[in-house]
Amino acid sequence: MADVGIVGGTGQEGFALGTRWAAAGLSVVLGSRVKERGLEAARRARSLDLLGAVSGGTNRQAAEEGEVVVLAVPFHAHAQILPEIRPAVRGKVVVDTTVALRSLDPPELAVPEEGSAAQRAQALLPEAKVVAAFHTVSAYKLAQLGRELEEDTLVCGDDRHAKERAVELAKALGLRAVDAGGLDQAGTLERLAALVVALNRRYRRKAVGVRFVGL
Ligand SMILES: NC(=O)c1ccc[n+]([C@@H]2O[C@H](COP(=O)([O-])OP(=O)(O)OC[C@H]3O[C@@H](n4cnc5c(N)ncnc54)[C@H](OP(=O)(O)O)[C@@H]3O)[C@@H](O)[C@H]2O)c1
Repeated sequence: MADVGIVGGTGQEGFALGTRWAAAGLSVVLGSRVKERGLEAARRARSLDLLGAVSGGTNRQAAEEGEVVVLAVPFHAHAQILPEIRPAVRGKVVVDTTVALRSLDPPELAVPEEGSAAQRAQALLPEAKVVAAFHTVSAYKLAQLGRELEEDTLVCGDDRHAKERAVELAKALGLRAVDAGGLDQAGTLERLAALVVALNRRYRRKAVGVRFVGL
């Protein structure tokens, strides 16, 4: 068993999260739709000489082997990928990073009937405990392993224990986690992330983030 299995571990966000967690000493499985791509991503991560073990494989393997499973695939891929991992995540904590974007430029949300990508994920994975987090944390910044993040991540979900696991994972990345409430708040978190994407474009930045004061 690994600490974290990442569905979409070959992508910008999944790979950056995985290498940060491995740098903090956690064991990670990087998943892909294509096993060889997962294996290759793991080789690339291991070449960074990280503290924690990194292995790779299919998304299904990442979901089976991860104690906590992180979703880092595009929203439009949920309908295909989530049913495939459903048996593997029964009873597990699933942390969804997905922003339900239909386009990036300009950033436009594709709001599903459930209200957010995370609520759709919970509907597709009814036996899992879905938490939404990390939407506003840019892959660009995460990938700079020595860089302090100095920002917050909002975390929401309906299961207290699941939310605590996500908070621990946020801390391992060097983030402060802020409890935003139940999973019905996920739409707000995703809209905030769309705003962050728009701010990156308007101010020609790559790593706009969110920091709350007074907490
Ligand atoms: N980039 C960021 O800064 C950032 C920040 C916060 C949250 N997120 C969220 O993280 C998720 C991934 O974003 P990303 O920027 O990492 O995207 P990305 O670089 O394009 O990576 C997405 C990964 O998802 C997998 N995938 C599965 N089905 C796919 C499909 N139908 N089309 C394309 N890729 C598919 C691909 O892996 P295989 O081809 O190996 O299967 C790919 O490596 C999104 O939901 C996004 O909202 C991203």
